[in-house]
Amino acid sequence: MRLLITGGAGFIGSHFIRYLLQAYPKYRIVNLDKLTYAGNLDNLRDVEENPHYRFAQGDICDPVMVNTLAQEVDVIVNFAAETHVDRSILEPGGFIRTDVHGTYILMEAARRFNHRRYLQISTDEVYGSIQTGAFTEDSPLQPNSPYAASKAAGDLLVLSYTRTYGFPAILTRCSNNFGPNQYPEKIIPLFVTHALEDQPLPLYGDGRNVRDWIYVLDHCAAIDIALHHGKTGEVYNIGGGNERTNIELTHLILNELDKPASLIRSVTDRPGHDRRYALSDQKIRALGYRPRHPFEETLRETVRWYRDNPAWWQKIKSGTFRHYYDQQYAGRW
Ligand code: NAD
Ligand code: DAU
Repeated sequence: MRLLITGGAGFIGSHFIRYLLQAYPKYRIVNLDKLTYAGNLDNLRDVEENPHYRFAQGDICDPVMVNTLAQEVDVIVNFAAETHVDRSILEPGGFIRTDVHGTYILMEAARRFNHRRYLQISTDEVYGSIQTGAFTEDSPLQPNSPYAASKAAGDLLVLSYTRTYGFPAILTRCSNNFGPNQYPEKIIPLFVTHALEDQPLPLYGDGRNVRDWIYVLDHCAAIDIALHHGKTGEVYNIGGGNERTNIELTHLILNELDKPASLIRSVTDRPGHDRRYALSDQKIRALGYRPRHPFEETLRETVRWYRDNPAWWQKIKSGTFRHYYDQQYAGRW
C-alpha cells in the first residue's frame, strides 16, 4: 500500500505513522503536513531516515501540492485539522478552511487518481453532548463548538461523496486521546507540564464534565482495522471505555507527580462546554477492535513521559504557546 498521511507531524498522526511502519514494513508513506503551531517534526525523529517514509511540508488546501503527492499513492488517511476547541472559539476561520475545504481538496485528488481508499479521521465531538447512554453511528450530529461543527461539515461532505460518486471513503469518530507528544494546550499535557512547573491548573467550570479517554495506540490500532476491514460509506465510532470527570483526571495526575491539590484553580467555563461524551463502539468491535491499554497504567506512563522529556515540551511552551495561553486564559482566573 502507498499512503498519503496528512497531519502526520501532529499528535495522533505521528503515532500512526510509527505504528504503520512497524506493523507493515513494506508500506510506503508520504506525510503531508503544513507544520502549523501543532505540527512538530521532533515527533518523528526516530523514523525520518526510514526509506519507506518521506515528509513533505505543505497545506491540504493547496490543490497543486496535494495532486502532486496524491498521484504517487493509492490511499489517503486524513488527520490534518485544526483540533483545539478553545482556539476554535477564539478564531474559527482556520477550522472552516482546513477541516472543511481541505477535506474537499483531498477528496478531489483521490477521485482524480482513482484511489482505492480514503479514510477521514473524525471525532465524537460531532455528536455533541449526551447526559446518559452513548452515541451510536446513527445518532444525529449536533456539534456545539466551531471545531466540532467544522469536523461535522467535513464528515457530511465525505459521506455525500460516497453516495454521489461511490467514493471509497470510511469515517472514524474517536473519543479523547492521550499519550506522549500531545501538544500542551490539551488538558492532560497542559496539567502535567504546569504541575511539573508548580503553576496553577485552570479547571473549567465545576470540573465535572466527563470525557472518555483512549490511549493513542488503541486509536491507531482501530484505524488500522477500519483501513483494512472497514466498508465504504460506513462510520465507525472508536471509544476507550474510560469515562472520567475532569476533576478525577486532575487528581490522578497530581497524585502521580506527588503535587498538591492546591494547584487546582477553578476558572470561568468554556462557552458551549459539552458536558459528557460517550460512544457505543460495537461496530468497530465487530471488526475485531478491543482497547488493549489499561487507562490508569497508561496515564501513569504518559505522565512519566512528560516528566522525563522536558526538552520536548519546554521548547513548545517557551515559544508561541505563551502568547496563546495568555490570550486564552486572560480574565478567567
Ligand atoms: P494535532 O493538532 O496534534 O495535529 C494536527 C496536525 O495537522 C498538525 O501536525 C498540523 O501541522 C497539521 N495541519 C493542520 N492544518 C493543516 C493543513 N491545512 N494542511 C496540512 N497539515 C495541517 O491533532 P491530533 O490531536 O493529532 O488530531 C488528529 C486528527 O484526529 C484530527 O483530525 C482530529 O480532529 C482527530 N481527533 C483527535 C482526537 C484527540 O483527542 N486529539 C480525538 C478524535 C479525533
Ligand atoms: O473528544 C475528542 C476531542 O477531544 C478531539 O476531537 C479534540 O481534537 C480534542 O482537543 C479533545 O477535545 P476536548 O475539548 O474534549 O479536549 P481538551 O483537552 O481541550 O479538554 C478536555 C476537558 O478538559 C474539557 O472538558 C475541557 C477541560 N479543560 C480543558 C483545558 C484545556 C479544562 O478544564 N481546563 C483546560 O485548561
